[in-house]
Amino acid sequence: MEKRVVDMGINLFKIFPNTKYYFYYNEANQLVSHVYIQDPNDSLEHPVLKEPMNGMYYVWAVETINQFRSQGYAQQMLEQVIEKNKSYFLRVDNNNVTAIHIYTKLGFKYYKNSGESDQIMILYQ
Ligand SMILES: CC(C)(COP(=O)(O)OP(=O)(O)OC[C@H]1O[C@@H](n2cnc3c(N)ncnc32)[C@H](O)[C@@H]1OP(=O)(O)O)[C@@H](O)C(=O)NCCC(=O)NCCS
Repeated sequence: MEKRVVDMGINLFKIFPNTKYYFYYNEANQLVSHVYIQDPNDSLEHPVLKEPMNGMYYVWAVETINQFRSQGYAQQMLEQVIEKNKSYFLRVDNNNVTAIHIYTKLGFKYYKNSGESDQIMILYQ
């Protein structure tokens, strides 16, 4: 598959200098999805996990623009930003069946509830 992920090279927060913000473009070069991948070096203790990240990357703000949903873009984007031999975790609302479906297809497994109405999923590689 042609790579259509662009690292925007934006450092949003000073405390997250290594966190990457990716945009994903479709065949017509329209911006369709985006995601942040937080580098484990950017935080020793993650505010969500409330425990050390142990070298894991944090996937957050996965989103496909409304009009482009259900065309496979979020899944394609994540397939391109998730690198072999790196481990990832994320937080997803228990009711978000679409997102949980995608993450499960990518190999993420349920880890634990966050204590609110969402769960933490992990991809160990
Ligand atoms: C979740 C979100 C990112 C998905 O983006 P998308 O580009 O539409 O997703 P894709 O098209 O790649 O994949 C959709 C998959 O979910 C499946 N799906 C859709 N509705 C579903 C449902 N109700 N139940 C189960 N699976 C569902 C589709 O069939 C498809 O899977 P398939 O390829 O196996 O058929 C998008 O809905 C979104 O931006 N939501 C708002 C933000 C959000 O919730 N982000 C996640 C935060 S953790």
